[in-house]
Amino acid sequence: MKTSTASLLALATAVSALPAPSQKRACDAPVTLSGTENPFTKYTLHPNSFYRAEVEAAVEAITDASLKETAAKVADVGSFLWLDTIANIEKLKTELATEIPCENILGLVVYDLPGRDCAAKASNGELAVGEIDRYKTEYIDVIAGILKENPNQAFALIIEPDSLPNLVTNIDEQACQASATGYREGVAYALTELNLDNVIMYMDAGHGGWLGWDANIKPGAEELAAVYKDAGSPSQLRGISTNIAGWNSFDLSPGEFSDATDAPYNKAQNEKQYTTLFGAALQTAGMPNHAIVDTGRNGVTGLREEWGHWCNVNGAGFGARPTAETGSDLVDAFVWGKPGGESDGTSDESATRYDSFCGLSDAYKPSPEAGQWNQAYFEMLLKNAKPAF
Ligand code: BGC
Repeated sequence: MKTSTASLLALATAVSALPAPSQKRACDAPVTLSGTENPFTKYTLHPNSFYRAEVEAAVEAITDASLKETAAKVADVGSFLWLDTIANIEKLKTELATEIPCENILGLVVYDLPGRDCAAKASNGELAVGEIDRYKTEYIDVIAGILKENPNQAFALIIEPDSLPNLVTNIDEQACQASATGYREGVAYALTELNLDNVIMYMDAGHGGWLGWDANIKPGAEELAAVYKDAGSPSQLRGISTNIAGWNSFDLSPGEFSDATDAPYNKAQNEKQYTTLFGAALQTAGMPNHAIVDTGRNGVTGLREEWGHWCNVNGAGFGARPTAETGSDLVDAFVWGKPGGESDGTSDESATRYDSFCGLSDAYKPSPEAGQWNQAYFEMLLKNAKPAF
């Protein structure tokens, strides 16, 4: 083929207009989010590269051709990235060096309070009770700095799963008593320092089977609202996250535990009811009350012997994919909070972080340490997914 100089020039111009493969496409304008608007109507939860890599490795390990094909689809599901240690803040930097579509919002879980997971063992963290200064300077300040350096990127933050709910219901436990001051101070600090234009925050509120009990709703809402006010009522706080790493159905009716003998004391039998009831109490207590709900692993119900069983529930399936179509004005979005396939806790009884909930008969065994990949569990979630992939 004869090529003229003019067409070569045209080709060169067209090629130079394309971004180099490794070049990150910059979103050209600063993001301005508002706590009075649902960010998920405008932005899609980003499928982060860490979960993508875990899923892609899982796909490699599957031999069944049709399962392999469906497994590959999970990599495209948006999910939250857990910043569960100071060292793992690196993950945020790595993620921001990849190309994130401008219409995507990056979901992050802020999860490193001193004395973390005070009522259980499986997710005990790296910071000891009292190490609040390290939490502030080595963890929150560093994350805040990175978010400020990326004003053109939208972020959705889940703030400290289980922490304040533990202070409401588990304060009789010595470890939670010891952690209480640090939890309140730490969460308030996070809310203040991360209150940035490109960020929307959701404070964790457990789930319907936890703070949804008649006796817990008001104290629960007041606990969260007090910390919100201590933080100076930050404008970017939109409300709460619920069912994070949880198993509750969003709208199963009657609810999964509605036949239990204690059911008359809990009207929050599903997360839709919970967000409505808890949301009303938040409003009374003077705190924004919108919600995001984790539907990552709630595809199958009727598996738990008791509502409070939280560890690697056997027989579980992936649930609804992230969407802003929730059918509830209070619920901004269904999200994947817990990356399905990562363990909730080890079933190894000799491990320091072994929690007896991970050894219950309705818990999947064997399971690795919290956060570690469990291939068999992932395949189970996939086979039981509802809706199917
Ligand atoms: C673990 C974290 C992990 C997260 C997501 C938590 O239970 O403690 O280390 O990042 O789950 O899998």
